[in-house]
Amino acid sequence: MPHPDAPAPQHCPTARELDDLELLTTGAAAPITGFNAAGSPITLDLPEDLAAQVAQGGRVELVDPEGLPLATVSEAADGWAVEPLTHAEFGPFRDHYLSPATTRERHAGRTFVAVTDALTVAEHRELADLGPVVVLALVGHGTPALSKVGLLRATLRATADLDAVVVAVPLAGHGDAEADADLQRQVLATYAGPDRIAELRPGGDVVDSVADIVRAERPPREEQGLVLFFTGLSGSGKSTLAQALMDRLLEHGGRSLTSLDGDVVRRNLSAGLTFSKADRETNIRRIGWVAAEIARHGGVAVCSPIAPFDETRQQVREYVADAGGAFFLVHVATPLEECERRDRKGLYAKARRGEIPEFTGISSPYEEPQDADVRVDTTGRTIEDALDDVLDALREAGYLDLGSRQARPTEAPARPTGVTASEPAGAHTAHTAHTAHTAHTASGPLRVLYVCTANICRSPYLELRSRQLQQEDPATAGRVVFSSAGTHGFRDHGVDEEMAELLAERGVDPDDLAGFTSRHITPEMVTEADLVLTAEAEHRNLLLREMPAAFRKVFTVGQFAETAGRMADDVIGHDLIAAANHRRAAAHAATDIGDPFRQGREAAERCATQIDDLLAVVLPRLAPQER
Ligand code: ADX
Repeated sequence: MPHPDAPAPQHCPTARELDDLELLTTGAAAPITGFNAAGSPITLDLPEDLAAQVAQGGRVELVDPEGLPLATVSEAADGWAVEPLTHAEFGPFRDHYLSPATTRERHAGRTFVAVTDALTVAEHRELADLGPVVVLALVGHGTPALSKVGLLRATLRATADLDAVVVAVPLAGHGDAEADADLQRQVLATYAGPDRIAELRPGGDVVDSVADIVRAERPPREEQGLVLFFTGLSGSGKSTLAQALMDRLLEHGGRSLTSLDGDVVRRNLSAGLTFSKADRETNIRRIGWVAAEIARHGGVAVCSPIAPFDETRQQVREYVADAGGAFFLVHVATPLEECERRDRKGLYAKARRGEIPEFTGISSPYEEPQDADVRVDTTGRTIEDALDDVLDALREAGYLDLGSRQARPTEAPARPTGVTASEPAGAHTAHTAHTAHTAHTASGPLRVLYVCTANICRSPYLELRSRQLQQEDPATAGRVVFSSAGTHGFRDHGVDEEMAELLAERGVDPDDLAGFTSRHITPEMVTEADLVLTAEAEHRNLLLREMPAAFRKVFTVGQFAETAGRMADDVIGHDLIAAANHRRAAAHAATDIGDPFRQGREAAERCATQIDDLLAVVLPRLAPQER
């Protein structure tokens, strides 16, 4: 994890990473230049100003987090040259970090296999069948599913009974699945040279001997370190809500707790910082850094700064994930007018008079989160009532179960009637978050909702064809419930004529066809579904703009098909939806199902064929396993 005061987009590599010439990721729009060092192809992504310096004959020094120079980058005839300056001598499993050249020198003739997660029983069997192997544990930032040291410990233990050599390769991920897979192939080929490369098929249970390592790294949610991060305008009620939650946590007991309230942090950890964008970012990164450390040790951190910038909140999310913790984002979405009406500290009045510069909501922006786990508007509600939304979401997500309010004898059980029609967004979003989280543990049939624009061409075809194909397969019959809806347009229409003809030709029950009527999508439909599959990326965007917390279960059909293809065949149903969150493909327009409405028979046929092809991938992956 980078130092919290490091400039925002820089990934500060560690000595270990750079010793092996790990990829340096900046996230900035910068040229990507390939170069060759120690026989291993590497991609270095430099910020534009630094890249320009190199291009002008300058040298860029790569340093570790303590500032120890590790390597220099300069321009060379065929790209960039990297000159290592020092070799890290410390770090766990240091002896296993071998360059491709050393690996070839010592272990040529073996079969080469890459791993990023603890070995499963099936993978272990496959490895045993391969004979002498070199197992390359890919331990770069963002690549392994376990921590670096966890992956190495698990791989060494799981292969102890095999003729296997474990080599650590610090290959960083870039968040682009295709580019990462490409790079992994290149690096694997460099290590293997002329030797054979084998690929293991993921899926199934991990080998018994490493179960404790995996459990320690992926504790059950109720034991996992947790960062509860409240974001919202000054006066939105986030500190009060956070404090009320702290009280509940303290009453309940059993967890180690730290509060990192915005105002309190400003008086100690961040004393001296201003409210400029840069200083706010530093403030939030500090909070994130401390919170992540708390999570690393299994504690609960309750943070309540304004945190107005999405990028910084995302950084905190990353810090926490890197520390093995869970990040739970609560958007306290009380509107500016209400915050200003309350103006408890008199700051809004001062800001309006120009006495406070860069005041959030007045003269400095607040970027609304699109990734909140729950959204609460405190307008017209008691704190206890608003807190219930947060507690419900936490319980449904499996993190904390502090009991229901009804169970507390000292409180009134009913909600006040002050929740008005002006607040449905907050209310339904809270519920959506629950459903998104419960999908994984739900039993019973899987509920799939298909979405297109008018619910007369694509989504009815998807719905009716899915139901027909499912009924034809006795293994899946009745185990998935399909429905559909449209984001705009018609209500109570039948299926478009062209599409209806195509469905009839494919043998869809005429009663099913005749009984279909189009519907307009509602938040409740999304809430009730376990999985929402949209025809186009734009439909998905539209849904997520309205219901950001549903992001875990909303995919385009093409995106879901591609995502399913990345998982082992036996990961299906609720498990697949849960797993998809970690390995989801991008929802790009290239895999959209285009609208055939009034485009003629040929377009309708093309559309039907495209959908049939996608369903051939998607349907076998939906039927839930017996539980
Ligand atoms: S943040 O932007 O860096 O996340 P933070 O949560 O620390 O803001 O702000 C703490 C408190 O400082 C606010 O609740 C508010 O009372 C006060 N404050 C003082 N100046 C400002 C300002 N310019 N903008 C917002 N809040 C301010």
